[in-house]
Amino acid sequence: MSKTAKITLHPELEIADVDSRLYGSFVEHLGRCIYGGIYEPGHPTADEEGFRGDVLDLVRKLQVPIVRFPGGNFVSAYNWEDGIGPVEERPRRLEIAWRAIETNQFGLNEFMSWCAKAGTQPMYTINLGTRGIDTARNVVEYCNHPGGAYWSDLRKSHGVAEPYKIKTWCLGNEMDGPWQMGYKTATEYGRLANETAKVMRQVDPDIELVACGSSNSQMPTYPEWNATVLEHTYEHVDYISIHDYYGRRIKRIETFLAQSVDMDRYIKTIIATCDYVKAKKRSRKTINISFDEWNVVFYYRKSKPEIEPWRIAPARGEAMYSLVDAVVFGSLIITLLKHADRVRMACQALLINVLGLIVTRTNSVCWRQTIYYPFYHASVYGRGRALSLNIKSPTYEDAEFDTVPYVDGVAVVNDENDTLTIFAINRSLKEDIVLDGQAIDYSDYSVREHITLTSEDISAGNTAENPDNITPKSNGNANLKDGRLLATLPKTSWNVIRLEKKR
Ligand code: AHR
Repeated sequence: MSKTAKITLHPELEIADVDSRLYGSFVEHLGRCIYGGIYEPGHPTADEEGFRGDVLDLVRKLQVPIVRFPGGNFVSAYNWEDGIGPVEERPRRLEIAWRAIETNQFGLNEFMSWCAKAGTQPMYTINLGTRGIDTARNVVEYCNHPGGAYWSDLRKSHGVAEPYKIKTWCLGNEMDGPWQMGYKTATEYGRLANETAKVMRQVDPDIELVACGSSNSQMPTYPEWNATVLEHTYEHVDYISIHDYYGRRIKRIETFLAQSVDMDRYIKTIIATCDYVKAKKRSRKTINISFDEWNVVFYYRKSKPEIEPWRIAPARGEAMYSLVDAVVFGSLIITLLKHADRVRMACQALLINVLGLIVTRTNSVCWRQTIYYPFYHASVYGRGRALSLNIKSPTYEDAEFDTVPYVDGVAVVNDENDTLTIFAINRSLKEDIVLDGQAIDYSDYSVREHITLTSEDISAGNTAENPDNITPKSNGNANLKDGRLLATLPKTSWNVIRLEKKR
């Protein structure tokens, strides 16, 4: 007999309204993400600004609401002024975070123009590694002040008459990491971030600010870093940022498939830390989470290639994502949605080429990785109110995560178009599992489509030669009748069950 996971669809199981910025992404001056990724003058599809049209098409389909820029580690030694003004006058620099050559052909104004074409909003990270308060106030003035002073007039002289009004600003990147240029202790960073936040808000009171939390849950300073930083910055910031890349150095596939358990614990710990500082400060303000770098790392990648230093945009972090990676990726999205009340923004990292949703070949094609699809489904069908499914799933034992449910999932209800979408994964490598749901209050809905992403070969992925090897199929058997939802979740699969109100 098939294993069964029980779920309940009930409006009272609401988690929160999903902030659409949960479906954000990230582009960094790293590897071929920008140069050869989104920007490649001379490419057959490039527009007059050098933006690849084939990449823009795939990005637009994703409906990404916000994109973080320019780093990442890159930003902590970056002079933003190098990337503005006439392109031919911009300096070439030694880019010391990744030890590459930065040509500065792509900078702030190019990014803003690309965002407009991609239909997305910017999330701008300032350098709090090698620079500080003064640079921060200048870049806010350049971007957000109407004019009448040096930096805003300079923007106008660069052909941008109206201020960009960038809303979301990150106060540095991964400042808890010894690898970071200008790495700091929590107290050093907390003090600097607070003073920088104050000054940035003096320039533009309408901005929202994100302080650096932990770079991952294995950091020796975790979770204390987050408490100390918030003790310094609580009144002046809105979010704490956390990052993690899941599956690095994991050998056992069952443990790899359970990575979202780690993400779930991490988020819960950071929520508790935020609320501990709130209580300590007797504050009425709640700090939310911006999970502004997250991804899964290729399970089947054999080795990391050595990269010669001081090259322009050398390939880095590129490999083929497999089906099993997409299932883990889907479980991470489900986990973010399950915490939609406190994780308000998140950025999959990175959008193109470096652990990318999309891969490009220079002067040639681009295609979607397997992980593109869960992101696409969540972004397109996951707008509305997140609902817990109250899942009772069969489990397996794992050395690292103890008892792991085979099935995980969450739903999103959209009241405007009367739809309810269930996102679910089956972690079992061997067995299909039946999803058996009681649809309380949703019995007047029916199944429009049950999409599955799966393969007999879990190591299979998409390549330039075979770009559609792994694609979602609308072939699932979900059925809703008399208030009971039944669906088979194929072994090792990502599923999207789309329900809509009967007309
Ligand atoms: O892979 C991207 C890098 O990972 C980012 O530059 C950094 O913030 C993180 O450690």
